[in-house]
Amino acid sequence: MKLSLLTLFCVFIISIFLVACGAKETSSSPEVGNPSRGKELYNKTVLGPRAAPGCITCHSLEPGVILVGPSHAGIASRADSIVQGLSAEEYLRQSIISPDAHVKEGFFPGIMYQKYEEDLTEQEIQDLVAYMMALK
Ligand code: HEC
Repeated sequence: MKLSLLTLFCVFIISIFLVACGAKETSSSPEVGNPSRGKELYNKTVLGPRAAPGCITCHSLEPGVILVGPSHAGIASRADSIVQGLSAEEYLRQSIISPDAHVKEGFFPGIMYQKYEEDLTEQEIQDLVAYMMALK
């Protein structure tokens, strides 16, 4: 009797442990950017809870067309060679969350909206990067 209670207790503890591990695995799985969701975000005129200006209010997808910021035509093809040591995805991510870390030649710091990291979710940032990675 004593032994079987102990066995039951062990099974109980082990199952709690397994459930906890399973839950942790799903919640910590790396987010994957969704390009079509990113395209939707990119084309909005306002973003996030504070109605931050959307990307298309300053960026064109037409080659050479400067609105406020540079054109994003073909950005995926050059993004990996802009800042040494940053992959294309890393550069695009940095450009969104800390725009002044690297300022494109011919443009000024402080012009691009600076607080997307506070206004967008991690998933939304990944989605935007995934969309821009398709602009070849
Ligand atoms: C208020 C205008 C403005 C808005 C809104 C804006 N940007 Fe920018 N962006 C700029 C300017 C100006 C630059 C050039 C200066 C610099 O490199 O920071 C720039 C640069 C960039 C670059 C680097 C381009 C290159 O050729 O190296 C990326 C990538 C970028 N923006 C992405 C975005 C995304 C994505 C959004 C929307 C979430 C966005 N921007 C919203 C003005 C803006």
